[in-house]
Amino acid sequence: MTPQIRSYDDDVIAAAAAIIGGGGIVAVPTETVYGLAADATNAAAVARIYAAKGRPAFNPLIVHVADLAAAERIAVFGDDARALAAAFWPGPLTLVLPVRAEAGVAALVIAGLDTIAVRVPRHRAMQALLAATGVPLAAPSSNASNGISPTRAAHVASSLGGRVPLIIDDGACAAGLESTIVAGRTILRPGPITAEQLTRAFPRGGGGPASTSELYPRLRGGTLIAPGQLASHYAPSKPLRLDAALANPDEYLIGFGVIEGDENLSRSADLAEAATRLFDALHRADAAPQPRIATAPIPHDGIGAAINDRLKRAATR
Ligand code: TXA
Ligand code: MG
Repeated sequence: MTPQIRSYDDDVIAAAAAIIGGGGIVAVPTETVYGLAADATNAAAVARIYAAKGRPAFNPLIVHVADLAAAERIAVFGDDARALAAAFWPGPLTLVLPVRAEAGVAALVIAGLDTIAVRVPRHRAMQALLAATGVPLAAPSSNASNGISPTRAAHVASSLGGRVPLIIDDGACAAGLESTIVAGRTILRPGPITAEQLTRAFPRGGGGPASTSELYPRLRGGTLIAPGQLASHYAPSKPLRLDAALANPDEYLIGFGVIEGDENLSRSADLAEAATRLFDALHRADAAPQPRIATAPIPHDGIGAAINDRLKRAATR
């Protein structure tokens, strides 16, 4: 079976909502990456997400809802969480909060944890799908487990192929990196909302979020707190060398700023532009004739922290 790729419009949202209502899965763009969505309250539907991705069942999913009120029906919010929601929702921020058991989210979604990862997305296609289905939608990135995240419909098709019946195409994702994940005042996964932005948004007192790099993967009672944050992740199929100033003859170089490369994430050294292009570049590098990939150094400030996080995981095999 080849997946149907259909451009975003009212008809495709209706078709997608029918699939999800029947317990199926659909690939849908968000402002971060393309997601693989199913009804979070339907255990069999959620199981189809894990099966299509080949994702280990101990790795929980993010649940997407239309607004803060819907989020408060499935998770318990404190002052910090409300402040972040007010500042960044709808948008690329995921909050890990105590789950409300009565909310009816399938146990598989949270993989046995007592917390749930929730996000209110901004993208029109995901918002339209939430409105049309009327249920919370579990949605991991729409790629085979451990592969490079998809920022275009074609990436989804090449990674998941016939395992997803319908891909809603609404062009390239604006942020291009997965959402920032925050638990309490700790960043579990750096992303488009930066540590500086989070620190400014927290209510006074208590200190800002800790730095992330040494904080994960974190263990609690033998379970990873952010189980998807394994050292090797987002990985292309080829070896990747970081901080390269020059390509070796067998390398496809992803450049940045003055380091030109076979392609360049941002000639003007704009980190937001580089974030948007990163996964697309990794997909191209993976398909290039050279057997190896190299990447130019990227500054660590702002969203550069998230770019370097993804590159480090892509380089770990
Ligand atoms: O931008 C995004 O967040 C995209 C789009 C589709 O929304 N989704 C995404 O999902 O990146 P996924 O499944 O690829 O990454 C979710 C991450 C995983 O690392 C998972 O371990 C973590 O969130 N996670 C989920 N529930 C959690 C929880 N209760 N506590 C800690 N980490 C959790
Ligand atoms: Mg993912």
